[in-house]
Amino acid sequence: MKFNIMTLFPDMIKQGLGSSIIGKAQEKNLIEIDTINIRDYAYNKHKQVDDYPYGGGAGMVMQPEPIYEAYKSITSKLSNKPRVIYLTPQGKTFNQEMAMELSKEEELIFLCGHYEGIDERVIDMIVTDEVSIGDYILTGGELAVMVMIDAISRLIPDVLSNGVSATTESFDDNLLEYPQYTRPAVFMDKKVPDILLSGHHKNIDQWRREQSLIRTYNKRPDLLEKAELSEKDKKILDKYCKL
Ligand code: 6GU
Repeated sequence: MKFNIMTLFPDMIKQGLGSSIIGKAQEKNLIEIDTINIRDYAYNKHKQVDDYPYGGGAGMVMQPEPIYEAYKSITSKLSNKPRVIYLTPQGKTFNQEMAMELSKEEELIFLCGHYEGIDERVIDMIVTDEVSIGDYILTGGELAVMVMIDAISRLIPDVLSNGVSATTESFDDNLLEYPQYTRPAVFMDKKVPDILLSGHHKNIDQWRREQSLIRTYNKRPDLLEKAELSEKDKKILDKYCKL
């Protein structure tokens, strides 16, 4: 997967995605992250990329030309045009399902805005998707694009060293993950549940399923409505939660 990010703050992106699992994924060429500095496409000698809004009002608006030129620099070499995702609080809210869908693309382009926004004409011309990461306002799209690239990349084969862990974690089946424990077996008088030390894998799997169901009921009951529950699951919920 290749991620192209148009931004005024490329260092922020490179720093944020340069270490840990996403950094390793780049070293292993499983993903490629290319930042395009919009300021490099400024068309005036002061390298200015924003101006006052027509009609007045607070703040500055990013001008269309540098963004369009930055976009052309990415796509002029490409035969098929990748989706262009504009990070904006006005977009569709990002979730795990969207991450899974986007992880199937070969190449994506992200546009990070700043200031009061971007001239609407260039948005109309190049953007295919508008995405928000939640109902709050950030100072720019950079943190949002980092969130998206992290969530998408971990779904790409071999990015997580343990092949199963991408699929068994929270949200995949609309259930939260069961609690995890490691050594020591006793920590400040608190014991790890006996069943996990029993070595009885069938019982352990069953206990974990129960814990997932109970946790989801307690912490995110909204998710349970979307979860696919077996008759056995429903019995467990009846018993523990008196649904
Ligand atoms: Cl994608 N951008 C900005 N600026 N603020 C946000 C956001 C995006 N998602 C939530 N808040």
